[in-house]
Amino acid sequence: MKIGLFTDLHYKKDPEENRKFTALAPVRLKEAMEAFRKEKIDVAVCLGDIVDKAETHEEELSCWQEILAIVKEYPFPCYFIPGNHDYEVMIGDEFCKTTGMPAYPFFVDVCDRRLLFLDACYRYSGKRYDEEGMVWTETMLPPEQIDFLKKNLVESDNPCVLFTHQNLDKFLPKDYRIKKCAQLRRLLKKSGKVKYAFSGHFHDGDDHEIGGVRYVTVPSMTDTSANNYMIMEV
Ligand SMILES: [Fe+2]
Repeated sequence: MKIGLFTDLHYKKDPEENRKFTALAPVRLKEAMEAFRKEKIDVAVCLGDIVDKAETHEEELSCWQEILAIVKEYPFPCYFIPGNHDYEVMIGDEFCKTTGMPAYPFFVDVCDRRLLFLDACYRYSGKRYDEEGMVWTETMLPPEQIDFLKKNLVESDNPCVLFTHQNLDKFLPKDYRIKKCAQLRRLLKKSGKVKYAFSGHFHDGDDHEIGGVRYVTVPSMTDTSANNYMIMEV
């Protein structure tokens, strides 16, 4: 199956000078969606950090809605996972309600693949960022999500593809990585069912194969003068 991936738009209409490309998020997203359509992707996935904190909540919401409206113009489904910055803007069930996603974690079976969507925006206390305040260097999967992952890796008859905003790749700086990611990687390897694990968060992007699993970090869509998105056959 073909997946179109994009992440870390950090959309803000009036960004600081050193973050000026973030204002181009809608234009770049349209360009990506057109490429996805042309390539006949099966699903699109947004790996989080859609908007940045702005002066007012109205402004944040209007950025959010503008992005969601673009996504809805296209015929293929688009799945979202929240990034750390999204929980500075959206609280409670606002993220799920606006994007139309069920509560995390969840899975969908498409084209003989099981897609697993997890949310690692949790403080070490076990509370989510919107409840306790976002500290981006603290990221973990609560035990229920690890159980969900284990269960799905056992039960799925199909190969699994994993999506998290934060990273599992051991070659990325520690601050970006999900707590106990070595244990999580062992779990994926042991299952023998996961070939791909996609993340965002680390804006430069990266790509490493570890223990038979390819950990792909999709680069930010708006960090540089180039538009970044990815189409992957999984
Ligand atoms: Fe992030």
